[in-house]
Amino acid sequence: MSSPAARLMHNRAFSQIYEHLWRPLFTRGFSLGGSSTLDYDRALRAYLARPGDRRVLDIACGPGNYAQDASRGLTGDGAYVGLDFSRAMLAQAARDNVSERVTFLRGDAHRLPFASESFDTVTCLAALYLIDDPLAVLDEMVRVTAPGGELIVFTSVRASIAGLPGAAAAAGLVGLRLFSRTEILDRLAAHELVQVEQTITGVGQYVHARKARRR
Ligand SMILES: C[S@@+](CC[C@H](N)C(=O)[O-])C[C@H]1O[C@@H](n2cnc3c(N)ncnc32)[C@H](O)[C@@H]1O
Repeated sequence: MSSPAARLMHNRAFSQIYEHLWRPLFTRGFSLGGSSTLDYDRALRAYLARPGDRRVLDIACGPGNYAQDASRGLTGDGAYVGLDFSRAMLAQAARDNVSERVTFLRGDAHRLPFASESFDTVTCLAALYLIDDPLAVLDEMVRVTAPGGELIVFTSVRASIAGLPGAAAAAGLVGLRLFSRTEILDRLAAHELVQVEQTITGVGQYVHARKARRR
């Protein structure tokens, strides 16, 4: 891991300002000046907070900025696990999110330390564009999702303005990958996921997909 953006994730000061300062600004940037990413993000948080007995895995959870929403509605044996490989981010996550249903774990998204089909909801938000081999991470997400379970991804997309050589070069310089419109969808299609929905908000994309139930 060597890009400037990826290195920043290990910085303690950055982990402290990430959730309340950096993430809102960055989210706004994804809408290219509009509010579509923030609007979608609000809707996503409400969706994650719905009641239910779910096992939730949040890959590259950062300082746990979705942990409270994703654990609030959990019932029964429901639990939220946040995984990240930055010690600084995990320390911040553990400070900010104390709940018996919430656990944080250090690990590498490329090799998830979980049995296959062990989670009902698997998210990877604002991270695939930083990760060395993002398509391998998608494969891991599919592997650990239970039949009938869901995957939720928020990442970058090469929208027309970002397709300009300057924008692509700027993203490349700080180490952010811009995905084509079909790259994530194609990988999920290869796993025969169902109900795949992509919502593009400027240079951001949200993808929601389900793993088919066993017949
Ligand atoms: C921009 S933060 C996103 C945090 C949060 N998910 C959000 O939506 O705001 C990206 C996170 O990805 C983590 N990360 C990057 N590569 C990783 C990997 N291979 N395995 C686990 N975490 C990784 C970084 O440590 C960082 O905390």
